[in-house]
Amino acid sequence: MKAIIPVAGVGTRLRPHTFSQPKVLLNVAGKPIIGHIMDKLVESGIDEAIVIVGYLGEMIESYLKKNYDITFTFVNQEERLGLAHAIWMCHEYIHDNEPVFILLGDTIFDVDLTGVLNSPVSTLGVREVEDPRRFGIAITSNGQIVKLVEKPNEPVGNLAIVGLYFILHSKPLFTCIETLIRENIKTKGEFQLTDALQMMLENGEPLSTFPVNNWYDCGKPETLLSTNETLLKEHSSKSSIRGCIINEPAFISKSAQINNAIIGPNTSIGENVIIEDAIIENSIIGNFSKVQHVSLNKSIIGNNVDLSGDPHEANIGDFSEIKLR
Ligand code: UTP
Repeated sequence: MKAIIPVAGVGTRLRPHTFSQPKVLLNVAGKPIIGHIMDKLVESGIDEAIVIVGYLGEMIESYLKKNYDITFTFVNQEERLGLAHAIWMCHEYIHDNEPVFILLGDTIFDVDLTGVLNSPVSTLGVREVEDPRRFGIAITSNGQIVKLVEKPNEPVGNLAIVGLYFILHSKPLFTCIETLIRENIKTKGEFQLTDALQMMLENGEPLSTFPVNNWYDCGKPETLLSTNETLLKEHSSKSSIRGCIINEPAFISKSAQINNAIIGPNTSIGENVIIEDAIIENSIIGNFSKVQHVSLNKSIIGNNVDLSGDPHEANIGDFSEIKLR
């Protein structure tokens, strides 16, 4: 079965990091976001992926080809017109109504896909969310979807579609997307996959749901850091470094050089990083960066950054109260 992975987006909410790197290559718990997703995909037995690239797509292409030994087709989405449009870009590579598994390249999940990929009907991954206005929402009855609404303004339910779609019959999906594009039917300015799926439902194609309880959003700085924290509980590399205190969980790349530092908890240190005289907690440090004489908390530092503070000198009298920033 083919997987379809749309990763053409610009990742505006993760600027400045996404000015020079595509969102899906940002590191979380020791590897790029898309690395976590690809590992799950390969584990499920999928050996062919169509990747829809756009913004900084050549970086994604080279990472995937270098690290994964499956068949890739890269399709360029020049204009970001929405998820349904991104999926439409690969219609010529999908044949004979074959089943497809669509997954977003920026959503890390922990689900056993075996049952999902053998489902007798199309099925979408869902989970309950607190703020349904940010998601496509599924309204269900007896486990079957009766209606789908993209980013509802009015409360219609809180079962959100989280970016995993097993489509048993791909032809009706492409027909519905084609209708959206031909008739210029957009929601919130984009051709939405949720709208195409709703059209499929109306045309009589049954859709069911499967629960995705372990789902980790990486779309914003704060969710990237909380995903880092959650995943480190599984991916923590037990390490001890002379002269340093490591508070688990933490991921420290083998090539990092660390002197006189306190690292962690919930911290990922990338490849060839140099850290000296620093305290770093709840943070992600990119590759080839140098961090000296600072105390960092809840920070995301990119690649090739040189960050240093001044070691403070102080001559402070009794009963003083001072906060150094
Ligand atoms: P998002 O809207 O969450 O991601 O799309 P984004 O556009 O990269 O991020 P922001 O909103 O600017 O911060 C979800 C997924 O769908 C892909 C994105 O790359 C992301 O993986 N996508 C979305 C496309 O490939 N093409 C599109 O036209 C829209």
